[in-house]
Amino acid sequence: MDIDKVLEGMTLEEKADMLGGSDFWHLSGVERLGVPAIMTTDGPHGLRKQAGATDHLGLSASVPATCFPTASALASSFDRALLEKVGTILGNECQAEDVGILLGPGLNIKRSPLCGRNFEYMSEDPYLAGELGAAYVKGLQSKGIGCSAKHYAANNQETKRMSADSVLDERTLREIYLPAFEKVVKEGKAKTLMCSYNKINGAYAAVNKKLLDDILRGEWGFDGFVMTDWGAAKDPVEGVKAGLDLKMPGSGNKDAALKIVAAVESGELDIAVLDASVKRILEVIDFYLANRDAGAVYDRAEDHLKAQSAAEECAILLKNDGAVLPLAKDAKVAFIGEYAKKPRFQGGGSSHINASFVDNAVEAAGDLNITFAQGYDDTKDLPDESIITEAVKVASEADAAVLFIGLPERRESEGFDRKDLDIPASHNALVEAVLAVQPKTVVVLHNGSSIALPWADKAPAILEMYLGGEGVGKAAVSLLFGDANPSGKIAETFPKRVEDNPSYLNFPGFGDTVEYREGIYVGYRYYDAKKSEVLFPFGHGLSYTQFEYSDLAVSASEINDSESLKVTAKIKNVGSVAGKETVQLYVGRTSAGIPRPIKELKGFEKIALEPGEEGIVEFTLDKRSFAYYNTVINDWHVETGDYSIQIGASSRDIKLEANVKVISQTFIPVVFHSYSTLGEIMKSPKGMSVIGPVLQALAATFGGDQPGTAEAIGVGAELMQAMVQDMPLSTLSDFGAMPKEALNAILAQLNG
Ligand code: BGC
Repeated sequence: MDIDKVLEGMTLEEKADMLGGSDFWHLSGVERLGVPAIMTTDGPHGLRKQAGATDHLGLSASVPATCFPTASALASSFDRALLEKVGTILGNECQAEDVGILLGPGLNIKRSPLCGRNFEYMSEDPYLAGELGAAYVKGLQSKGIGCSAKHYAANNQETKRMSADSVLDERTLREIYLPAFEKVVKEGKAKTLMCSYNKINGAYAAVNKKLLDDILRGEWGFDGFVMTDWGAAKDPVEGVKAGLDLKMPGSGNKDAALKIVAAVESGELDIAVLDASVKRILEVIDFYLANRDAGAVYDRAEDHLKAQSAAEECAILLKNDGAVLPLAKDAKVAFIGEYAKKPRFQGGGSSHINASFVDNAVEAAGDLNITFAQGYDDTKDLPDESIITEAVKVASEADAAVLFIGLPERRESEGFDRKDLDIPASHNALVEAVLAVQPKTVVVLHNGSSIALPWADKAPAILEMYLGGEGVGKAAVSLLFGDANPSGKIAETFPKRVEDNPSYLNFPGFGDTVEYREGIYVGYRYYDAKKSEVLFPFGHGLSYTQFEYSDLAVSASEINDSESLKVTAKIKNVGSVAGKETVQLYVGRTSAGIPRPIKELKGFEKIALEPGEEGIVEFTLDKRSFAYYNTVINDWHVETGDYSIQIGASSRDIKLEANVKVISQTFIPVVFHSYSTLGEIMKSPKGMSVIGPVLQALAATFGGDQPGTAEAIGVGAELMQAMVQDMPLSTLSDFGAMPKEALNAILAQLNG
């Protein structure tokens, strides 16, 4: 398409129309100029293409499609290649269904485990969410399909999701809630972003100039278009001016377009601003048309197998005491729980897929020696004694029991938040009862987000499948019996109690506001700083084999912040079966001048090793790996100092550690004022050179009548120094030691 020519040929009304959808799922085209109205579809882990009645809550039917594991599971793979592959398969399915934009990935940070939509989001960690989000986007877009990374931004709860004002400080926004979006824009080259419903610091996302224009386009160089979440648009003219491009869905109502036309005609809206928006939309339409593969077919059976193998890669072995797993293939095993026949494999709401085949564990077990008991009635929360008695009988007659339990859909979904971390009492009662009779009890979990496991100490083995997609049943069986080896690591902390979570006192907010008072201390950043015990730490996950970590090497012991650092480590499979290990790299700065988390994830690599095999994992760290967001210079800044490079199997299992000194190349001016403390002033060499002699002179003056004081102030005896540390400069004149003018002269010298 000759985009400039099309733009030139469009009338003002056609341009204004293009800023809104033509119906629930389609953009507006311009038929007479050969621009088709391309289709968008949810997303993110499969296609929810609605051919008939439409809705944004997953209520009406959609065409059959492959359901992949949801984001909490996908993220647990810690595997960029897998995310890229899933993106590519979805891209092909989009081509086959003539869908030009898939609405995903979901990049919001799991601020609280209670967010009802956490199953659709990747992680509590922005680096991990960004890396995996960018990989998914690359895969999807490699097929000519635009992504719509969502929901931009600070949309971390479902309570009042359409109206709440997320109030957070600049550093928290930059360090925690924006980096995943930044990564999919800069590295993933995302074609579109979806702005969220909520307000961010007082302005709705759809009219938030700071987020849309200043940061997204100005700072990150985003050249795609921004669409609203469904129904999130506010004033259309204010929206375009703020950097919004497309209002979704369309309804046939022309009000918004008419307002845009009127604003251009009255001179309120510059036509160049409208043209820029239209051009961005045309570019994405053209991207789809230029890569259109009308002959694309997707093989449902083949994609189903890929969904199954993705579920195997994502599962996390949380516990395996006494190597209960894998189970022997000739053992008599009781599969207990409704989820063994009817797994919970996806989340509720707009991401709901019409999956035509869903595997279940009982069928997948085929010829294995399996017995079954219902275990609980999943429509009820309270235990039913007769169902449990039957389960206990079946469990005690077998060599081992596998309990398929978790969180029912009524307890977690888009549209509402969870009230607690609990699973139904009926599931917990089943576990307790079976544990009392069967020492070889394995618990298989189906849930979209972290949950409380009150019996975790007693259960020897726990396998977390999350919402593993349509292949979850077969995947569970191959993992349970050792045909596949678990290699996932949880991408979120499982706290011991919901009260331990850093957002607990401020979730979901009060009135129309939710204040992110925990700041940058989200997830493990908080639990580590507080040295709190957790149920399972971020990054945790076991394997049927064991890995040995050694030979950590860093390319330099000192670098400038403009240089990169190479880090390598040797990993050896010292067990007896093949397996994969996700090696995590955290950067720590414990003696920072400004508050920093104890450590932060800055690299991860997954390595596959045969028994006895060893391999090297390699990481490259750059300025951003050591930086925090400095609100004086409004940029990333590295404090000069020592950093620890920690290599581990989880955030709480650090195996190797090295130090590196990083020297900042940026000078940050410090402005002193009369309430700067003497301690703060004396910390800088210049401050010391100005204030030192003044204090010495004063000390000498007072010294005559107050023995010891002169020495103390003048030469810095410890006690005196500690006492003056927190005195503001103004005390010198407030206490009458010098006139105000002299103090002002000192300030001028300090800031000169
Ligand atoms: C959801 C989006 C979704 C859209 C369309 C909204 O309610 O928040 O994630 O893409 O509906 O279904």
